[in-house]
Amino acid sequence: MRKLFAAAAILAIAGTGIAAAQDAPFGMQIKARQGIMAYRALQMGVLGGMAKGDVAYDAAAAQKAADNLMATVTLDASMLWPQGSDNSANPASTALAAIWADGSDIGDKATAFAEAVTAMQAAAGTDLASLQGAMGNLGGACGGCHKAFRVPSN
Ligand code: HEC
Repeated sequence: MRKLFAAAAILAIAGTGIAAAQDAPFGMQIKARQGIMAYRALQMGVLGGMAKGDVAYDAAAAQKAADNLMATVTLDASMLWPQGSDNSANPASTALAAIWADGSDIGDKATAFAEAVTAMQAAAGTDLASLQGAMGNLGGACGGCHKAFRVPSN
């Protein structure tokens, strides 16, 4: 009987550990915003594959990818970025505290991204040359924000 209690106690402690991992600071917000980023990367893969000629140009598929990117822009994700939810609070995140620092230009970076996505929405379904023409700015807008506001991946 004592052994059984001991086993139950160990299980209870292990369970607490799992709950603690899920409750890591800002765990849900970080997961959700990383999911949005992963979704963006997926759409960029579609557009980039066509731009590079790895995949045949398909106007409808390109338009859909651009529209999906716009959906990530119009979505109100502000609740996913609470101040303090940076990499120092939870190492699962690669977000830098600089995002929330005085004078941060994250808003400008987000605006530049929104403009690049708007341009891609107009270009993607037109023809391959237009898609290719809009790709540089769009990729640059992702990278520009990451360079300033993410832990370098080296
Ligand atoms: C305005 C800033 C900004 C823009 C624009 C932006 N990102 Fe991000 N991205 C971030 C930040 C900040 C993180 C780190 C999030 C975290 O880990 O908490 C991130 C993380 C990521 C990640 C890693 C997700 C993970 O699971 O750790 C990927 C992939 C990504 N972004 C892709 C993209 C792509 C592709 C684009 C453009 C189509 C883009 N991002 C545009 C700021 C941005």
